[in-house]
Amino acid sequence: MATLDVAAIKADFPIFKRTVRNDHRLVYLDSGATSQKPFQVLDAERNFYENHNAAVHRGAHLLAEEATDAFEHARSNIASFIGANADDLVFTKNATEAINLIAYSFLNATLKSLRGADLPPGSERFVLAEGDEILVSEMEHHANLVPWQELCEKTGAVLRWIGLTEEGRLDLSDTSFFSERTKLVAVTHQSNLLGTVNDVTAIVKLAESVGALVFLDACQSVPHMPVDVVALGVDFIAWSGHKMLGPLGIGCLWGKSEVLSTMPPFISGGSMIESVSMERTTFAAPPKRFEAGVPMAAQAVGMSAAVDYLNDLGMASVAQHEHMLTEAALAGLAGIPGIRIIGPENSIDRGSAVSFVLEGLHPHDVGQVLDESGIAVRVGQHCAKPACLRYGVQATTRATFYIYNDLDDVDALVAGIYSAKKFFGV
Ligand code: ALA
Repeated sequence: MATLDVAAIKADFPIFKRTVRNDHRLVYLDSGATSQKPFQVLDAERNFYENHNAAVHRGAHLLAEEATDAFEHARSNIASFIGANADDLVFTKNATEAINLIAYSFLNATLKSLRGADLPPGSERFVLAEGDEILVSEMEHHANLVPWQELCEKTGAVLRWIGLTEEGRLDLSDTSFFSERTKLVAVTHQSNLLGTVNDVTAIVKLAESVGALVFLDACQSVPHMPVDVVALGVDFIAWSGHKMLGPLGIGCLWGKSEVLSTMPPFISGGSMIESVSMERTTFAAPPKRFEAGVPMAAQAVGMSAAVDYLNDLGMASVAQHEHMLTEAALAGLAGIPGIRIIGPENSIDRGSAVSFVLEGLHPHDVGQVLDESGIAVRVGQHCAKPACLRYGVQATTRATFYIYNDLDDVDALVAGIYSAKKFFGV
């Protein structure tokens, strides 16, 4: 496992050439919200537009052929990154859309079934009956909570959730949440608020024991650690490109082929069809079934370049680097009077999202003082309000670390918090 050369990495990211707020160097600790982009990603996207731009899977001309090849190469490359086959990887606008895709597939199957429509073989597993259950956890960010609430409201299914321990972990001591009625378990791999990395093996085992499908929200894991979907044993994962050095506007849904092949479509239109008449339409096989309209080819090419960049570093090295920074941050923050870490206080089974509150100081004030020194953090509820409320806080300050951060950034964060305390006299 190689140690990351942060200076060399930073040189690849144009944004670190600028300064912020009174000429401070940029200390970017908000990669959990979105990551910065290296030249390699920006160049790949620009090269697509400059040299190969065309609508993919349409057109008989050279540019259409090149654009289609680039798009499908990106799919294969990104699929390999998570140990998957290209045909099982669907491009979406972002991870939120990928989660909605599954939710709407359930809804569409349920509505069609209620009307007595013929469902393709195997798709009955997406039909929800009154009283069926969807199981989430209390640490989900809104993208992996609200779509399931909506689905339950529309179908009469019931949303249940796994609670959290004081330490910030899933409380799996009570497994009665997993029942014969559970149709889907939808949980995060790594909490965007707490940093907790969940025990996926345990969750899959419990879900399998009741015949439920498992969706894993991998937004905060795929960019930060090696992820192998076959080893995880889940049915679906989703994540976005922009949190892993890639462009905005692209996300991925991966599903087991035997599950995806039976799943009804979400958005319908061109490209996702097999045959269309004025009376009815039959649908293409995945992944096309889920990719209606002209797809985001330039973004796919950019995301593929991000995969190449991370592969060159090695995901084990990326994870090790973040682990080192997280340990240093937890140690540095622990010494600050009046601080409370929201989430595990040690670095075991924990990623690099570090949330905290300071006695007598509002997170927005902390964020503002840090920003004055060039330190970018996220403040608020991090789209995870129920998890904040579980720990009795309205908001937190959150630092998230990535490949371009180093121990100087950790020191800057700690010093910035002391400055905030001094400024506000607490
Ligand atoms: N879920 C993203 C975050 O944690 C947006 O900031």
